[in-house]
Amino acid sequence: MIKASGQTKKSKRYERLYDQIKNLLTAETGIISKMATISAVLHHKIDYFFWTGFYLLENENLTVGPYQGPLACQILPKNKGVCWKAINTASTIIVRDVNTFPDHIACDSRSKSEIALPVFDNNNIIIGVFDVDSKEIKSFDETDKIMLEKILGLIYSGSANYQLHH
Ligand code: SME
Repeated sequence: MIKASGQTKKSKRYERLYDQIKNLLTAETGIISKMATISAVLHHKIDYFFWTGFYLLENENLTVGPYQGPLACQILPKNKGVCWKAINTASTIIVRDVNTFPDHIACDSRSKSEIALPVFDNNNIIIGVFDVDSKEIKSFDETDKIMLEKILGLIYSGSANYQLHH
């Protein structure tokens, strides 16, 4: 029997979580409920997710949205830190060790590594960022990036999965 590698196992786990989240999300809600559901499922199902949630662009500020984990900063100082870098570069940022990221914003000193992904609406406009912190260094890699980007695609994917229950 061929043993699955660590990365394959991780991808498969993410695929199952993707299916679970897809089934939970419904066209009846707006994006905030979807973000809350995504944060709750991922935070409680992936053991290295220490802080899991969204920051939303509001009046050019990044303010905290739905999240799970310890108390977070409510506003992130403009153009500083990992989340703003994801916004300003319109790309996913992986920080293997937050101590090596010069202007990393430490909402909780226990966070050691981080991934931040921009969230795009249907018109490809960035509306915020999804951010995950881990208490270990080097927790996030290309698999987290690919699979979290796929999961975030569900936020604006509409009513494809909506079924009426009588
Ligand atoms: N570390 C982030 C701030 C948000 S918290 O990690 C919850 C940053 O540098 O943007």
